[in-house]
Parts: sequence; C-alpha cells; structure tokens
Amino acid sequence: MTTALITGATAGIGAAFARRLAAEGHNLVLVARDTKRLQEQATELHDRHGIEAEVLTADLSEDDGIGAVEKRLSDPKSPVDLLVNNAGFGNKGRYLEVSMADELTMLKVHCEAVLRLTSAAAESMRDRGRGGVVNVASVAAFVPRGTYGASKAWVVQFTQGAARDLEGSGVRLMALCPGFVRTEFHERAGMGTENIPGWMWLDADKVVSAALADLARGKSLSIPDPRYKALMGVVKLAPRRLLGGVTSKTGRKYGPQ
Ligand SMILES: NC(=O)c1ccc[n+]([C@@H]2O[C@H](COP(=O)([O-])OP(=O)(O)OC[C@H]3O[C@@H](n4cnc5c(N)ncnc54)[C@H](OP(=O)(O)O)[C@@H]3O)[C@@H](O)[C@H]2O)c1
Repeated sequence: MTTALITGATAGIGAAFARRLAAEGHNLVLVARDTKRLQEQATELHDRHGIEAEVLTADLSEDDGIGAVEKRLSDPKSPVDLLVNNAGFGNKGRYLEVSMADELTMLKVHCEAVLRLTSAAAESMRDRGRGGVVNVASVAAFVPRGTYGASKAWVVQFTQGAARDLEGSGVRLMALCPGFVRTEFHERAGMGTENIPGWMWLDADKVVSAALADLARGKSLSIPDPRYKALMGVVKLAPRRLLGGVTSKTGRKYGPQ
C-alpha cells in the first residue's frame, strides 16, 4: 500500500485529491491548519475506504509548519510515495492594494513551502528510486495576473526544471495548472465570481482525475481540461499587452475593502 501526503487537504482541489486517492486504496497524510476539519475528514475517509489517514496540522506560512511537514516527508520508517503540494490562496486586491506582509505570506506558502517540501520528498524518493510530486500551480502562471500569477509561474518553472534534473531517477514531478475551479478559494479571498462565464468553471474531481492520468503518462505539465488547453494555445499567440487587459480583469472583482 502506498502513502500520499496532500497539503491543503481539507477543501477544494486538495480534498478532491484525498477522496480520489483514498478510493484507490492509498494511505494518506492530510495537511492543513484546521485540526478539527482534518480529523473529521480523516475519520470519514478511513471509515469509507478502510485506509489509514494521518492528520498533520501545519501552517505552511510558518517555518515551524513547513519544518514539521519536511520531517514527515523525510521519515524513512513511513515513506511517502506521492506528495501533492496544493495549499494556496489568493489575496484580496491588486498590486499595491495588498500589504507587503500578505504578499510575503503568499510567497512563503506558494514558493518556499513548495520548494522545501518538494526537496524533502524528492530526496528520499530518489534514494528509493520511485515517487511522484504534483505541484498545484494555475493557468494564471501563463498570463500577466498580479503577484498570484507570478508565484504560480515560479511553481511551473521550478517543477519542470526539477523534473528534467531528476529524469531517469524514478521520481516524477508535475506542475498542475487548472483554470477556475469551484472551491472555497474565491470566497476566502473575498473575490466576486459573477464576471466569470459559466463555461470557464471546472469541477475539482475532474481536475484531479485528469491530473493523475497526466502524472501516470509522465507529463511534467498538466492543463487538465481541453477548454483551457485551447485557451492557452491562443494565449501563446496573443500580444501580451492585450492579454494583460483581459486576464487581469477576469475573476478579480474584489468585495468591499
Ligand atoms: N479554485 C481555483 O479556481 C484555482 C485555480 C487554479 C489554481 N488553484 C490553486 O489550487 C490550490 C488549491 O486551491 P483551492 O481552490 O482548492 O482552494 P480552497 O478550497 O480555498 O482550499 C485551500 C486549502 O489550502 C489550505 N491552506 C490555505 N492556507 C494554508 C496554510 N497557510 N497552511 C496550510 N494549509 C493552508 C486550506 O486549509 P486551512 O484553511 O485549514 O489551512 C485548504 O485546505 C491552490 O494552490 C490554488 O492557488 C485554484
């Protein structure tokens, strides 16, 4: 039986990874800040699928939280076969409307935690000659979309570069770039979603299904939906100035400050 560790496992895309991997018989290590929610989820997945689900409460915007997860990933007695770096959030506001402290928190969770956890996992996976890491980025990585898009561009570049360096080691790394997914993300960030057309919304379970299929195929980048694959094809050809105007407006309607 293999073990998967998922950060941000209590909601949205992370919870969908947890449901799917538990249904496939993987043991889980569930990571997020809300202990009560993690425990309820672990009990439900254990009861429904008969798997072992460990709870690891950690705030990935804090050194101690990142350190606790690194330690779990490096534990030789209980190896982790699949790491899903999924925890993330959006800030309420555009550039210069968000405090520097909040900007730095985003970099800590989206970049530093992803670097440190990927490295802890990949090192012990390389020693064992097998394992996988999915780093959840976003299609925002490919367009000018504030500091959020910039942090996700880092995730894509880091993951694809590391995947190349580890080719032949048995360790697979993949950046997952979904479009808009119905989760708690937008509500938590205080973002209105009424200007996002219905066809742009994806379902978290389908995103996870496509992502795991892409990982099995050995891809280092997954855009888990044909609509967004086509859209990203257009994005590659569109003038950057025009792109900036369209993409920085869609889905960035913030509620009262
Ligand atoms: N939804 C979208 O449209 C969309 C599109 C593209 C990419 N993404 C990316 O997908 C990932 C998951 O987002 P989601 O949409 O599923 O969001 P979500 O429903 O808001 O879930 C976020 C998860 O991350 C955890 N989390 C947040 N901050 C954390 C921290 N400091 N330390 C530990 N855990 C933390 C939350 O749990 P706690 O609050 O208990 O810690 C929760 O489990 C993110 O990286 C996001 O950027 C989302």
